[in-house]
Amino acid sequence: MFIKYFGMRKKINNFSSQKKNSTLSRTLSWPHLVALGVGAIVGTGIYTLAGVGADRAGPAVIIAFVIAGLVCATAALGYAELSTLIPEAGGAYTYAYSAIGRHIAWVVGWSLILEYSLASSTVAVGWSAYLVGWLQSFGVMLPPMLLTGPHDGGLINLPAVIVALSIAILLTAGAKESATLTLILVIIKLLALVLFVVLTLPAFNLNYYHPFMPYGFGSTLSPDGKVRGVMAAAAILFFAFYGFDTVATAAEEAKEPKRDLTIGIIGSMLISTLIYVGVAAALLGAAPFSSFIKSGEPLALVLRGLGHEMAAKWIAAAALIALPSVIMAMIYGQSRVFFVMARDRLLPPSLATVNKQGTPSRVTLFTGIIIALIAGFFRLDELAELANAGTLLAFITVGLSLIILRFREPDRPRRFSCPLPYWIGSITILGCLYLFASLPLHTTLRFLLWNAIGLVFYASYTVYKRRKALLPL
Ligand code: ALA
Repeated sequence: MFIKYFGMRKKINNFSSQKKNSTLSRTLSWPHLVALGVGAIVGTGIYTLAGVGADRAGPAVIIAFVIAGLVCATAALGYAELSTLIPEAGGAYTYAYSAIGRHIAWVVGWSLILEYSLASSTVAVGWSAYLVGWLQSFGVMLPPMLLTGPHDGGLINLPAVIVALSIAILLTAGAKESATLTLILVIIKLLALVLFVVLTLPAFNLNYYHPFMPYGFGSTLSPDGKVRGVMAAAAILFFAFYGFDTVATAAEEAKEPKRDLTIGIIGSMLISTLIYVGVAAALLGAAPFSSFIKSGEPLALVLRGLGHEMAAKWIAAAALIALPSVIMAMIYGQSRVFFVMARDRLLPPSLATVNKQGTPSRVTLFTGIIIALIAGFFRLDELAELANAGTLLAFITVGLSLIILRFREPDRPRRFSCPLPYWIGSITILGCLYLFASLPLHTTLRFLLWNAIGLVFYASYTVYKRRKALLPL
């Protein structure tokens, strides 16, 4: 009955990774994994969306940060336990396959495409805007037709396409090389944020925190047609916190997966949350929130307002240099999810091959091309909201898998045991549902359409495999 509706479950010790040509190299240790996590988490969310969040919630955006951070922290605890219980690549997709069944795993894998691909496309588009602004400050103008997609009267966002493709090519060099580069980029972007806090704290003025919650708590439609309130801000700022889950997708490349994955997931989440709360508090105390809500670079703008011209240039340059680490981590996560889905025969098996260095270069390039095309033609804000919808579904499944596997496999060894698992799993599920309900209606409709397309693909591919006798593993 259960199997009929949710599909066959994958046995936890079914290490299909042992198959010839489908084995990833174990090259990553915990510093690489913490860097991969922070590399994926800290990006457009804090550098750009902090202003959008303040527009939706006023100074109470700080509460929105805390809510989104708490929901992500509970999901991170679930990821940490599941990644040591099932140390296979694929993250939420793999956990759903073991805990619930193949059909649901497909929906989760298909939704993860929204998370990883759309989030990297979002960051590529954001990066392109930073590049254009930075070049303009040196008097270099690029042809407008090549800076935006048809939605804004242009042809294609060429810088976004180039950055996404270049990073995909770099990733084919191997996970360890990319992780080392990520570590350097992470240090640059964290230093820039610390610099921001240090420079703005002397100008801290508590009066800028009043009125604290001008648009109320719940997500409601304002007279100007925008969705506002603390929860509306939390639903978009959720974007700022995820990315730690890419660490779980690296399970088959970790040298000591059971120890290193826990450190990678929880460590990267803790570092990022501390930095975010510090930056948000300093930002709101440094200038009236209304002065930076329209800016695509709120941190640099506030620094300029305080007379720190040079520091503003440094922050912009750091964003330019370091934002690609988010794209890199997300392409990495996406390629591993595609890889495992292909290895499980839910996607064409030709995508599940590795090169001589043990890197899945074919699927990485395939992923890079998709992300580059999306970045070339679509808008930043809508991409971010749809990416959030896909991620929320994945996190809900992680909460559910945590609870189900505690029931079904209570004695199986877990290197990391999530404290109060039933509570934490339930808070993850309910928190993500609340954030999902706070997203704009058009995002929910697009999300449903995306999954309808996915299910048609799944059904057609299943029929095709049956005809060709290509049964799933
Ligand atoms: N958390 C990532 C960012 O903020 C997706 O860019």
